[in-house]
Amino acid sequence: MEVIIQPAAQAAELAADAIVALVDTKPDAVLGLATGSSPLAVYDALAQRQRAGEVSFSQVTAFLLDEYVGLAAQHPERYRNVIDRDLLCKVDLDPQRVHSPDGLAEDIPAACRAYEQAIADAGGVDLQLLGIGTDGHIAFNEPGSSLASHTRIKTLTAQTRADNARFFNDDVEAVPTHCLTQGLATILSARHLVLLAQGQAKAEAVHQMVEGPVSAMWPATVLQHHPHVSALIDEGAAARLQLADYYRETFAAKPDWQGL
Ligand code: F6R
Repeated sequence: MEVIIQPAAQAAELAADAIVALVDTKPDAVLGLATGSSPLAVYDALAQRQRAGEVSFSQVTAFLLDEYVGLAAQHPERYRNVIDRDLLCKVDLDPQRVHSPDGLAEDIPAACRAYEQAIADAGGVDLQLLGIGTDGHIAFNEPGSSLASHTRIKTLTAQTRADNARFFNDDVEAVPTHCLTQGLATILSARHLVLLAQGQAKAEAVHQMVEGPVSAMWPATVLQHHPHVSALIDEGAAARLQLADYYRETFAAKPDWQGL
């Protein structure tokens, strides 16, 4: 795993560089999108790149990581609506090509199978953006998740619901209890994983992800099994890393040609 400790704004530009380079060589690339706070600066950077004429997303297909169960179609915090607001209204990505698990499906297992099939039919995800929860979740794979899991329903932990209450007027009761989420095996099947984390609240989860033993108790540790992970973290999120100085030296000496 490549660990890059940079301020959030620079981290966002590095992630945007990787996405623009991918779409340049593969205009019909498949992107994996995360919601939440962590990728917002990346989405703004992508919008800026498109305005500057550097890139078009018109042929790109995208898949969201997860979706709440039971939020009404028009609910502003339904992730399909969140990504409209955070990204789709700013770039030329075709909304018809943006897919999310169906949190309103009557047959949840069938919807999860269909989502996995849609990702496979698209040829798999080329580059997946990820955030990380304070409890070490990626997508909504909470502690205890199978490291071999695929898209399925999960129960959110009390910690995740409290963390996400800020999106629901600080009313934790308004945060859904369940979600549909890509599994850890689904995420590992993407070809390049770009994880963003900011702030000290993420420091323990980031430390475990990079330096801890692989364990379902810290689901993000499964990323240690992936051959191409770029972890872009700010100083706060890096606060507990044992090898922080080594990661800084490595990045300082990184060859210009390499990219993420
Ligand atoms: C959202 C998602 C979650 C978030 C994580 C961090 O689609 O998959 O794993 O990335 O909860 O959330 P933020 O970025 O809001 O701190």
